[in-house]
Amino acid sequence: MTYAPVILLIVGLLHWTTRATMMDKLADNKRCGDPECSYVLSMATALDDFIAPDCRFINLRRGQMVYVYSKLVPSEGAGVFWSGSVYSERYVDQMGIIGYFPAVVVNETQKFTEDTVAMQTTDMDFYCH
Ligand SMILES: *[C@@H]1O[C@H](CO)[C@@H](O)[C@H](O)[C@H]1NC(C)=O
Repeated sequence: MTYAPVILLIVGLLHWTTRATMMDKLADNKRCGDPECSYVLSMATALDDFIAPDCRFINLRRGQMVYVYSKLVPSEGAGVFWSGSVYSERYVDQMGIIGYFPAVVVNETQKFTEDTVAMQTTDMDFYCH
């Protein structure tokens, strides 16, 4: 009886680990506005629709405004990916969800800072719920 809370906790943890997926890193390094990557680096507009191929990415619709939070530093030959979230009054459900998208599908319209911090990415940067 006394063990019940512990067992519940373990079951809960197992459930949590099976639901969470550790995905491959898209890059080893990134640039952000601050060490926590909480500053918006810039605003961009989606030039095209982008369908997220897996849970690391976000969907974009052509014309949507995007807040850019980080820019991955691509390894040689790899695509350039940025992370951000969509600003939209029509698709409120997507607001606040941060994910990656190819830099080529957006047009950066307003930069808020030129000062960026270079950092290594961690597994948590590519963690999926
Ligand atoms: C990107 O935005 C700028 C400024 O709004 C605009 O002049 C330019 O034509 C846009 N580029 C593309 C590819 O849409």
